[in-house]
Amino acid sequence: MKGIILAGGAGSRLHPLTKVTSKQLLPVYDKPMIYYPMETLIDGGIKEILVISDPHNIGNFVRLLGSGKDFGVKITYEVQDKPEGIAQAFLIAENFIRRDNVTLILGDNLFVGDGDFLDDAIRTFDSGGRIFAKQVPDPNRFGVVEFDKNQNVISIEEKPDKPKSDFAVTGLYIYDNSVVKKTKNLKPSTRGELEITDINNLYLQEGNLDVKVYEHYWLDTGTFDSLLEAGNKIHQLRKNK
Ligand code: G1P
Repeated sequence: MKGIILAGGAGSRLHPLTKVTSKQLLPVYDKPMIYYPMETLIDGGIKEILVISDPHNIGNFVRLLGSGKDFGVKITYEVQDKPEGIAQAFLIAENFIRRDNVTLILGDNLFVGDGDFLDDAIRTFDSGGRIFAKQVPDPNRFGVVEFDKNQNVISIEEKPDKPKSDFAVTGLYIYDNSVVKKTKNLKPSTRGELEITDINNLYLQEGNLDVKVYEHYWLDTGTFDSLLEAGNKIHQLRKNK
């Protein structure tokens, strides 16, 4: 299993904090944000990690994380020239993924409270796609899972005006090797991006998407409030240790 951290995006909702630096380098209590998704992958047993960022910020990630030796993993780097969607990561990473399966985590996603969940999910992963959903008060900010009356997943909608459930798709995706081919056949959405939600719907149509409910604490740190909340939560956890 290979791992990718996508640390891209303009971060425009966090201006001026992100005017001269990457969102994923901002502090979350005592560490730069990217440390948290990186530790999630490492706790998942992943040893080879590709960090993808934009041309302006990639050098700072190299300075911060280096070869990965200090973390006991191998880290390499690629540039995303333009923010053309989360799924674009699989095209950029094609030579890194080779014939392996891959776990992608978004650099602004914090999974806190259970060090073992990804290890379990990867150990029991065979093929298809496996994603994690979390009940949230503001689902319209996210990819949203739609269930039928028997609790089967029937579709995923990206940032719907009228969400059909309050289960958000978190920014952590485990896929088999067919994700590269699937992404190559994907058409950009109306906003010009290769959508991760379209990849999930392809796996779903094949009957190969496993949606797990994430039971612990999860935050996408894309807004001022969620960034502050994340820092406070980590602070609280450290204090109670
Ligand atoms: C992205 C995805 C969305 C997902 C979210 C999780 O949105 O497009 O489906 O729910 O990450 O953090 P973004 O935060 O890039 O707007």
